[in-house]
Amino acid sequence: MDLKIETASIKLLDILCQIEQKCFDEEAFTRRQIAYLLTDYNTIALVAKVNLEVTGFIIAQVEISEIEYGHIITLNVAPNYRRKKIASKLLGEVEVMLKQRGISECRLEVREDNNAAIKLYSKLGYRITDKLERYYGKKHGLYLKKSL
Ligand SMILES: CC(C)(COP(=O)(O)OP(=O)(O)OC[C@H]1O[C@@H](n2cnc3c(N)ncnc32)[C@H](O)[C@@H]1OP(=O)(O)O)[C@@H](O)C(=O)NCCC(=O)NCCS
Repeated sequence: MDLKIETASIKLLDILCQIEQKCFDEEAFTRRQIAYLLTDYNTIALVAKVNLEVTGFIIAQVEISEIEYGHIITLNVAPNYRRKKIASKLLGEVEVMLKQRGISECRLEVREDNNAAIKLYSKLGYRITDKLERYYGKKHGLYLKKSL
């Protein structure tokens, strides 16, 4: 499998919206939100391409609270390309880019019943630090962190 990780460009907006919709359905970010995220100077947005086909993407934002940290905003892999380590590679590459900016922590939210994502994140060293009551409508979320 010829997998390449590249910077996501606004030119890919249509395909990224299609993948986001397939992956998150009614919880998907809107086209306008994705367009904003792809063009914001404070985000890192990467796509995974298999034989030139866009198969997944990740968007992270650099945020500041008590420390500066990377916040994973969305991570998607098209259903027919799952379990091929595409998400692991996208996340790994974002972590490298955050570290290069001197950022030492990555954080994210996940729905508490999203077993695939929770397994992926725990395998990659993320630890649950909080429960987020009704973060996704009626569903609860989990807050995860990883030291980079
Ligand atoms: C979660 C998601 C991004 C995983 O993408 P992926 O490319 O299939 O993940 P990877 O191949 O890198 O998986 C790495 C490891 O994570 C775990 N994992 C991933 N998907 C899993 C699943 N469906 N069931 C159980 N474990 C899973 C496994 O340990 C896997 O390693 P293995 O295949 O050697 O067992 C993908 O399923 C997806 O896009 N889901 C819909 C959107 C979503 O939920 N995004 C995350 C929101 S926070």
